[in-house]
Amino acid sequence: MYHSRISGLGYYLPKKVLTNQDLEKMVDTSDEWIKQRTGIESRHIAGENELPSDMALKSSLQALKKSNLTPEDLDFILVSTVYPDQLMPNTACTLQKKLGISHIPALDISAACSGFVYALSIANQYIQTGTYKNILIVGTETLHHITNYQDRTTCVLFGDGAGTAVVSQNKDPEKGCIYHQELKAYGEMDSALFIPAPGAKYASKTQSIPNQYRKNNTLQNLSLTLEKNNEMTKKPDPRESKKQPNCDTSEKQDTYIHMEGQTVFKKAVKIMCSALEKTLKDTGGSLDQIDWLVPHQANERILKQFCKLTGFPEEKVIFDIKDTGNISSASIPLSMARAIEQGKIKRGQDILMIAMGGGMTSGSVFLKY
Ligand code: COA
Repeated sequence: MYHSRISGLGYYLPKKVLTNQDLEKMVDTSDEWIKQRTGIESRHIAGENELPSDMALKSSLQALKKSNLTPEDLDFILVSTVYPDQLMPNTACTLQKKLGISHIPALDISAACSGFVYALSIANQYIQTGTYKNILIVGTETLHHITNYQDRTTCVLFGDGAGTAVVSQNKDPEKGCIYHQELKAYGEMDSALFIPAPGAKYASKTQSIPNQYRKNNTLQNLSLTLEKNNEMTKKPDPRESKKQPNCDTSEKQDTYIHMEGQTVFKKAVKIMCSALEKTLKDTGGSLDQIDWLVPHQANERILKQFCKLTGFPEEKVIFDIKDTGNISSASIPLSMARAIEQGKIKRGQDILMIAMGGGMTSGSVFLKY
């Protein structure tokens, strides 16, 4: 039996900083409101030509160095991103190319802010079965591209950055292992946090088919059949009653993050509480056995509420949102890397990661670092 060990972590934050004071000039908000309701003071914004794969490269080279490995040692690349470099090829392939390697599989994961935890869980399966020895897992986000800087309810929250972990095969669980993992999704909450476009759902059905062929009977029939089938299986979409998204994907509005803040807040707290409860139940452990909670950094208040409800000590929580904002799937590897750098997290300690995001998706991993 093989075990998964995080052999090294790395992170990258772009140079440009967007402060609460900057946002005060853009929307009707205040530094005080943002700090009090979220714990955020500033966030980093990627440069004009800085792509998710560029940031992933920087954090990955750092993680490889910490692992004493080179890109040639890797067997698999998993990249989580909400907004990839482009739709095809995936960002993992681009990262592979930028790392100067070839042949090994490279896959993007779409699970929003839970993406890193999903990637870690997938990597663990390949390590445990002995299929792969070293897997690169990356969360890299340029959320500023999909943030509406006229919407004060969302623009204060998000930032850019990347975080990477190398997961390596290991025979001695004392030197690192994953004790427990659980992934979940709540598709019924698709209207709580979403980005309408680009995507097939809001693209014109026959957009790429030349006009002369649109009149073709076969296509017309096909389109009618599809429409009929859709009508028969269609469930009411809660979004339709509120807002009919514009079919034109060039409409900037549809390319932004839409969020029901309070719904997400409440669900996030519930997810965190039940993830903790399930981890302790399945492992037969107690709160004392967890040295650190490394949660997705969505809002400081979510974490404080979780501590209040579960009795989890705040001193054992890595709070790391003040100068980053919510950087989606980059948040957990970045905050863990920084906590190691600051001497908080040490080798041999037991870490619980909990993430939640659009989908809604969620995941937890309890591991020995
Ligand atoms: N500045 C000033 N006022 C703001 C504001 C801002 N940036 N954003 C919202 N407000 C206002 C609202 O308009 C509302 O005003 P009203 O009472 O006059 O209607 C008031 O503040 C309270 O709004 P509310 O939505 O109840 O605030 P909240 O305490 O729930 O905080 C969030 C809003 C978005 C910070 C909070 O809901 C949150 O963090 N949700 C989870 C978001 C998240 O984690 N998303 C990603 C998950 S991976």
